[in-house]
Amino acid sequence: MSPVFELRRIEKRFPGIKALDDVSFACNAGEVHALAGENGAGKSTLIKILSGVYQADSGTVLRDGVPVHFATPLDALKAGISVIYQEFSLLPDRTVAQNIFLGREPAGRFGRLDQRAMRAETERVLQMFGERRRFGADTLVGALDVAEQQLVEIAKALSLDAALIVMDEPTAALNEAECALLFELVDRLRAQGRAIVYITHRMPEIRRLADRVTVLKDGKVAAAFDGVPEAGVIVNAMVGRDIGDFYPDPPTAPPGKVRLKVSGGGNARLSGIDLALRAGEIVGLAGVQGAGRTALAHALFGLAPFERGTLTLDGEAVRLASPREAVARGIVLLPGDRKAEGLALMQPVIDNAMMTARAFSPLAGHPDRTRHGTTADMMAAFRAIDLRAASVDVPIGSLSGGNQQKAIVARWLAMDPKVLLFVEPTRGIDVNTKAGIYQRMRALADAGAAVLMVSSDLTEVLGVSDTVVVMAGGRITATFGRGASEAAVMHAATDAPQDRAA
Ligand SMILES: Nc1ncnc2c1ncn2[C@@H]1O[C@H](COP(=O)(O)OP(=O)(O)OP(=O)(O)O)[C@@H](O)[C@H]1O
Ligand SMILES: [Mg+2]
Repeated sequence: MSPVFELRRIEKRFPGIKALDDVSFACNAGEVHALAGENGAGKSTLIKILSGVYQADSGTVLRDGVPVHFATPLDALKAGISVIYQEFSLLPDRTVAQNIFLGREPAGRFGRLDQRAMRAETERVLQMFGERRRFGADTLVGALDVAEQQLVEIAKALSLDAALIVMDEPTAALNEAECALLFELVDRLRAQGRAIVYITHRMPEIRRLADRVTVLKDGKVAAAFDGVPEAGVIVNAMVGRDIGDFYPDPPTAPPGKVRLKVSGGGNARLSGIDLALRAGEIVGLAGVQGAGRTALAHALFGLAPFERGTLTLDGEAVRLASPREAVARGIVLLPGDRKAEGLALMQPVIDNAMMTARAFSPLAGHPDRTRHGTTADMMAAFRAIDLRAASVDVPIGSLSGGNQQKAIVARWLAMDPKVLLFVEPTRGIDVNTKAGIYQRMRALADAGAAVLMVSSDLTEVLGVSDTVVVMAGGRITATFGRGASEAAVMHAATDAPQDRAA
């Protein structure tokens, strides 16, 4: 039986780069085919050729063994390919139903839009998400959070009844419960006989979901497995070598003076927060979704400021009422959600990086000085973080998703901050680059900065942090030094408030 869809010997060039080089790839009915590879390896490009967004320079696309040509995404859609993109394509000012039916609205009587049919079909698809859904067909997409928007993207694919469903890093913005729900959905789609292409940087997901794995490296197929090998084998194929020491060595010197300190800090989401961030120290914040980790990082950045308690920076009492004030004092927050960052996709990489740095810079009134000083710093930061771009003058939208993320990280690193607040810094970033970001964090700490990291990846928190602070219910419930066990941290993260109530 021929594959439902197949790519044969595909080549694709962009100015200055060969994104795909002689790549073949097949999708079988009732199978999940995982696609792995470092940032910029060519994964999204492959999908875009399969789905008619780009045209291959050479090679063939086949449907049930017959060559086809998709001139537009609509052609591919009609042939039964539905894609959930890494960067969402939803319109915020339309409802969930309108987004799901965008471009293929059902016509009712007299050729008018059949609103009722649209809403009914939307509700039918949304049923699949069960209890966990807090929105309906008429909710405006702009009012949904990232995870909910992801569900809408999935609902859209489901409503299309596609033979092939492509998911490009679908779990990047989901919490654990949402991931579990997605995995169930994928299992169900496979059982229905659909073909699924699943792109992810997370090895456990590949192990959990995939039937076969293809690894891309620098635009070529580095390995194609008929089955799912050990994670280490996949990573080796991705990186081309053993990555060895993944986490940086702990510092040799003890932490230095206290840089940022909060005592009795509280607001609507937080209470009784006592925390000191020291020069040379990486503090990891652990906890389950909703524990208050992000709220704490946001409070320290002046985004959702403390309403109670005191705050000192280098021993001096400060009020941080806005991010602008925080940045002016050398406190920066690096978010993992590139969408929320409002990148100007058509503008050059360097301008995107400079824009935000300048918007928050205390030297904002002196563009020349800032521009000069920072461009050099920025270039150094780009190099340090291994940003892969043809040049810094190409539009940031032409970079792979992970490299867009790196550009965001680089622009803050270039500012030589006193306190760095990392929120999910490695989301959507490949293993090799993750190691680079950890090294960079360590180097910044060693140079005297205080570093706080919020991450949902407990292995990452334990591997990187000198001190692990655990939160639950908006409070700090435990603090551990290096070498804490996963079990102890999980216990403090999940047990505390319930225990007391029981
Ligand atoms: N529209 C475009 N114009 C120019 N170059 C592009 C364009 N789209 C992709 N590229 C380049 O092609 C290469 C492959 O990018 P692609 O987005 O396929 O990577 P990826 O494997 O999906 O990476 P990630 O894990 O970061 O999402 C990169 O070097 C990227 O900069
Ligand atoms: Mg991609």
